[in-house]
Amino acid sequence: MARILFSLALIILVVHLVNAQTPEPVFNYDEAKVGTYTLPDPLIDAKGKPVKTRADWANRRKELIQLFAENVYGQTPKQAVKLRFQTTAVDSSALNGLAIRKQVSIFFIDYPKLPSIDVLIYLPKNNRASAAFLGLNFCGNHCVTTDATIPLSTRWMANTGEATITNQATGKARGMQARRWPVETIVKRGYALVTAYYGDIEPDHPKGWQGHIRSVLGDTTQPDNWGAIGAWAWGMSRILDYLQTEPKIDTKRIMSIGHSRIGKAALWAGAQDERFAAVISNESGEGGAALSRRWYGETVERINTSFPHWFCVRYKTYNKHVVDLPIDQHELLALIAPRPLYVASASDDQWSDPKGEFLGAMHTEPVYKLYGKTALGTTTFPTVNQPVGQTVRYHDRTGKHDVTDYDWEQYLRFADELVR
Ligand code: GCU
Repeated sequence: MARILFSLALIILVVHLVNAQTPEPVFNYDEAKVGTYTLPDPLIDAKGKPVKTRADWANRRKELIQLFAENVYGQTPKQAVKLRFQTTAVDSSALNGLAIRKQVSIFFIDYPKLPSIDVLIYLPKNNRASAAFLGLNFCGNHCVTTDATIPLSTRWMANTGEATITNQATGKARGMQARRWPVETIVKRGYALVTAYYGDIEPDHPKGWQGHIRSVLGDTTQPDNWGAIGAWAWGMSRILDYLQTEPKIDTKRIMSIGHSRIGKAALWAGAQDERFAAVISNESGEGGAALSRRWYGETVERINTSFPHWFCVRYKTYNKHVVDLPIDQHELLALIAPRPLYVASASDDQWSDPKGEFLGAMHTEPVYKLYGKTALGTTTFPTVNQPVGQTVRYHDRTGKHDVTDYDWEQYLRFADELVR
């Protein structure tokens, strides 16, 4: 008997120790554990007043931007920064004569030590100005095309085996992500493609802000000082500033596009800067299109732990209290209204929470309605590879976390139908 009791006590002790050592899970793949939640209503303002008209929404819009700045991405500095644009190369018969390729560097006149943002542009050979996709890239302009005349970026890169050694790109990086940027197809369809390396604005690591824009603008002592996502979004707006001066671009039809962490930045850029005519979020997930209150895939706590530099310091205070956030991500998406918005997921990318992204898009409906527009127009999560929606569109592609030809085909159709 004593033996049995002893064994039992031992088992209880072991179970207890194992439990005590298992860290609280900061992500979840079990739909049954998502829990219940109540989303903040985009059409009720902070004082509890209903938002009924477009004029009311204009005020609520400002309030929401402020709430996202205070609690999630940090404040984007408001001061105008003097820019100098320098065209460094033009090839008028790029892509076998299909396109004009331009490279332009954006310098900061008052901050000469900051690195330039080096922009790569493919323009269709049209007689008229073209609509454009503007999106940052993950690994330097040299990796979006196999074109060997694009200079290899010398900026800091995350190490990825042979293509980047000691944080420097090697020749092996050329064209590494060309598959994600079907330049020829885009240009043939009449659109320009504008891209720059996101690390030109801020290298993606906790100390990346040093020597970059966040070292000269903002206030690092404040809990709502901007994070890296805020800086990338700001950089997209500076590229947009340049595009205003480019006669071959139709400045009223420039779309903000981004994948994953850059998708989060593309959304925040489009939310703040209404010069973006439309926004495309490709698998932006947590801190992007996915609802934060839905406890599925990556969570607020997990993203703040893995990527402490992406958001403002105050965002971390919500790690274990997501319900206290005064906003949720459907309201970020609603800030794009009445402009067209595309939210895309991939079925093997559960980390980004496809359902949470769909619900984010779905809950923009009342805001688009204020403008007499239908957003998604459905509350049913679609089967894979079945794009749905009207002014707001959504698809859940089969396959993994990536940008594929399938995704681009939908974005081009979306642009043809809604941005032209
Ligand atoms: C990580 C991160 C995501 C992010 C992704 C990416 O998976 O957790 O939030 O979207 O990287 O940028 O590829």
